[in-house]
Amino acid sequence: MNEYDSNTILSELVAGGHQVVDSSSDADLILLNTCAVRGKPVEKVVTLLGELRKEKRAGRNLAVGLMGCLAQLDEGQEIAKKFEVDILIGPGAITDILPAIEALEAGNPAFASLDFKEDLATHITPAPNSLTGFLTIMRGCNHHCTYCIVPTTRGPEVSRPLESIMLEAEAMQAAGVQEIYLLGQNVNSYGLGVPGLPSFAELLRLVAQTGIPRVKFTTSHPMNFSSDIIDAIAETDNICKYIHLPVQSGSDRVLRRMAREYKRGRYLEIVREIKEKIPDVVLSTDIIVGFPGESEEDFEQTLTLYEEVQYDAAYMFMYSARPGTPSYKHFDDLPRELKSERLQRLIERQKHWSHVKNQRWLGRDLRVLVKEIASSGDYAVGHSDQNHTVLVPKNQLESLGLYDVTIETATPHTLYGVVKGYRSEAIPLLMAQ
Ligand code: 5AD
Ligand code: SF4
Repeated sequence: MNEYDSNTILSELVAGGHQVVDSSSDADLILLNTCAVRGKPVEKVVTLLGELRKEKRAGRNLAVGLMGCLAQLDEGQEIAKKFEVDILIGPGAITDILPAIEALEAGNPAFASLDFKEDLATHITPAPNSLTGFLTIMRGCNHHCTYCIVPTTRGPEVSRPLESIMLEAEAMQAAGVQEIYLLGQNVNSYGLGVPGLPSFAELLRLVAQTGIPRVKFTTSHPMNFSSDIIDAIAETDNICKYIHLPVQSGSDRVLRRMAREYKRGRYLEIVREIKEKIPDVVLSTDIIVGFPGESEEDFEQTLTLYEEVQYDAAYMFMYSARPGTPSYKHFDDLPRELKSERLQRLIERQKHWSHVKNQRWLGRDLRVLVKEIASSGDYAVGHSDQNHTVLVPKNQLESLGLYDVTIETATPHTLYGVVKGYRSEAIPLLMAQ
């Protein structure tokens, strides 16, 4: 999501005649596009803003902007004031970046915009020479998970009009994009309750019909992850067989306190249906350990859920109490050592399962998209249709693009393979190097 927003900010700046520099020491304006989901990234932003304020006070002619989720929060606004930030723009107003710069250039004092603009129909041209196209289909979230700041920073759900999504998808395909990533806080709520809009399952099929080689999406909520979505994935070749389905906890008691709106049993039912209909599916999840009140028994429920689902990958987080969330207000945080110890135990189990799951690809072919060939090292990095990180010897590659790769080695986090074939028919002229 933030990468997409950063791309949009970048295209706005370039369209406005501004130049992007390689090193921040050469910049007249530094923009920080922030995440506020956990406390650690916020601490990093504070440190960076402190350094930039020091440079400004020492006489450097520099403007600083705070953008993204942190800007939307009272916490961020206080930080902006303290560190004398010149531009403050929330995630719903990123297209205000050019007016903000103009205002500064005209000698106005600090600029702030925290609106949620209604112009979700705006058509954004994909960055040139990019093989992955991020395509936002909806914004915001109507859920109220008690630990989460996103409903505050990104507002309620708004689905983009179908026409503008399809225009953008077609423009990406024409520009040679090989993989479209449909983005939203909760993509499977797309179109819900809005007359005239297709369901998410229908939208998936429509985007796939553009003929783009790969369609991926993130992120989903188990609520409304309905059978028609699973069918669309199972029945459509170019919709990737990779599903990220955040579970957050394996304990019903914790799920209730998190207000996740489903129980462990229902989640497992969805996983069973996915595995039945999509053989070889790759599954990943998000987990929070050490949610307030999580007992050892609750945590063990998460461990047993792991054994049952056997995720290929997982993003595991220690609970971070975020000011402004219900769990921050009403529940006491657990000791850090306890959270950290549980996280380590979970990481160990995940490492085991990732290794086991990755080994099933040994000797088999995966289609890998290589987006960059670094000048140093012997390997190039790509990603499989199922989202594995795959390394291939650089000297086997003719250019960027899609390759058939035979997997020879599997570690918990990486697959290593050799190129079997070059999917030349899929490589657009624009991209050929
Ligand atoms: N503490 C820790 N992790 C969190 N997430 C969201 N809020 C918090 C929090 N307060 C995690 C969830 C979510 C992912 C994007 O970030 O697992 O799915
Ligand atoms: Fe946050 Fe829950 Fe919405 Fe995801 S579904 S963005 S975790 S409130």
